[in-house]
Amino acid sequence: MSPILAPSILNTDYTQLGSTIQLLQDSPADWIHLDVMDGSFVPNISFGMQLIKDIRRRTTKPLDVHLMIVHPDQHIQAFRDAGADVITVHYEVCPHLHRTIESIHLSGAKAGVALNPHTPIEVLRDVIELLDLVLIMSVNPGFGGQKFIYQSIPKIKRLKQLITEENAKALIEVDGGIGLHNAEAVFAAGADVLVMGNAIFSDQDPEATMQKIKQLGRNPLFV
Ligand code: DX5
Ligand code: ZN
Repeated sequence: MSPILAPSILNTDYTQLGSTIQLLQDSPADWIHLDVMDGSFVPNISFGMQLIKDIRRRTTKPLDVHLMIVHPDQHIQAFRDAGADVITVHYEVCPHLHRTIESIHLSGAKAGVALNPHTPIEVLRDVIELLDLVLIMSVNPGFGGQKFIYQSIPKIKRLKQLITEENAKALIEVDGGIGLHNAEAVFAAGADVLVMGNAIFSDQDPEATMQKIKQLGRNPLFV
């Protein structure tokens, strides 16, 4: 099994979005990771439903929507209607997380919960069986191109253990600072989904980088 590869378009040139999405559509990327930022939960502001709707029209790949916004409950159906297949909210802004997860499922999307680097995985124990995905932030959310926080590796292992203990099915997604230098270690620790922005789009040959990531699973050490 190779990792599920979810390129993030956050730091790309949005005036070229059509060709970026076409490049991903024709590439070995599995999902497209879309970072929605509100300038309140995180310091940066990115894009919203309209852009996602336009991307939806141009690709058949699943859209993996990472909401870095306060009050995500108010917008879940709108993101689903825009074309989100997976909707991930942040634990840190959801006082009624169980209800939020139910709303995502009611909308028809898969439900994910993201944890900031300081948030322990234990907070998910009582909802883990409801989740389709847990996103471990391996940088502080807000910007692409940051340095991977190495404590994320043991955190992925602890999450994997929690999922096994609770007999849950959630995929482990890891987001931030992943590149060819550490993708193998992240995958070996137990990650199922690798988000990659800078490492793909600042590369001369994004397609070749994506191919290399998809080949990781062929290493018999990690099968
Ligand atoms: C950061 C975003 C990430 C980011 C990843 O807040 O959630 O998805 O775009 O970009 P890289 O791979 O450059 O860290
Ligand atoms: Zn993200």
